[in-house]
Amino acid sequence: MRILLAPMEGVVDYTMRDMLTRLGGFDRCVTEFVRITQQKLPARVFYRYCPELRAGGKTPAGTPVYVQLLGGDPAYMALNARKAEQVGAPGIDLNFGCPSKTVNRNDGGSALLREPERVHSIVAAVRAAVSPTTPVTAKIRLGFHDASLLMDIATGVEAAGATELCIHARTRKDGYKPPAHWHQLAQVRAALTIPLIVNGEIWSPADAQRAQQESGCIDLMLGRGSLCRPDLAPAIRAAQQQAAYTALSWEQVRHMLLEYIPNIPLDNPKFAPNRVKQWLNYLRRQYPEAEVLFQQLKRLKTLAEIDGSLRDFGSIRLQEENYERRSITG
Ligand SMILES: Cc1cc2nc3c(=O)[nH]c(=O)nc-3n(C[C@H](O)[C@H](O)[C@H](O)COP(=O)(O)O)c2cc1C
Repeated sequence: MRILLAPMEGVVDYTMRDMLTRLGGFDRCVTEFVRITQQKLPARVFYRYCPELRAGGKTPAGTPVYVQLLGGDPAYMALNARKAEQVGAPGIDLNFGCPSKTVNRNDGGSALLREPERVHSIVAAVRAAVSPTTPVTAKIRLGFHDASLLMDIATGVEAAGATELCIHARTRKDGYKPPAHWHQLAQVRAALTIPLIVNGEIWSPADAQRAQQESGCIDLMLGRGSLCRPDLAPAIRAAQQQAAYTALSWEQVRHMLLEYIPNIPLDNPKFAPNRVKQWLNYLRRQYPEAEVLFQQLKRLKTLAEIDGSLRDFGSIRLQEENYERRSITG
């Protein structure tokens, strides 16, 4: 079983990839999507999305990071894939799943799932542009409105020379509405020879097992589940090996938050606080303390304020816990 960390624009950045891969369990990460229009991007753009390129394309824990490209023009996708490879990307991932209206209007993401031939052309152009040893992977949804073109798209991706295919088991129309239709991958699994990775709605080791059973896939990609529960990947591995496992405590998570804040990419400082809020928004599903904290800092505007609030929160909680302990022990 391989476990991949899903690309998540606005929250899974360099620091998040570093922290999550240090906890272990992941075999690979993918960057937030790099939007490709009719130009060849300079190296600095790739370094911004993927600072790991300066360190062999791996996180400090040694996990490879593929660079994800999103766009609809095969020639420019190819040109930029080659550039990403030249600056050190260990693999190129192609995004055909993004549901954003802006992205879709501008000829990219899941909008392309209505045109299996174009998906094929993009994968083929990128495949031809990079070295045969550089992996080219694709990430799709089940389809745009429905899954009627799924098999055409998937077989086209394989025929175009992709190394692997990952399917988020929902259509564009489904958005992020549960459930994910893992069983729809089984027919694709049977038709392809390249590895197929199941993605969507895996929040626990039990979900992981069900996703594997229903899809027939062994490999998993985890997105929001790993933000709610940063140790989800190692927890899944432990469960599958029937090994004992101690879940990450809130105090450990709070330390991760304190590590995250000063290391958030500041290329757009205005949006930096949103990254913390977005992560807390997921954490509160798992940790009641995160819910309290989220309510406290959801209206704060700067990272300094958020950091202060998190530190105060820690010391107040500690005082409360000490008080509780003293009350119990008398
Ligand atoms: C906030 C957010 C940002 C995302 N950004 C990307 C992205 O940049 N590229 C991509 O291929 N998918 C992106 N996705 C989709 C995820 O990679 C994943 O396919 C989806 O969340 C389903 O998996 P999950 O249920 O494990 O979260 C994003 C999803 C969310 C919620």
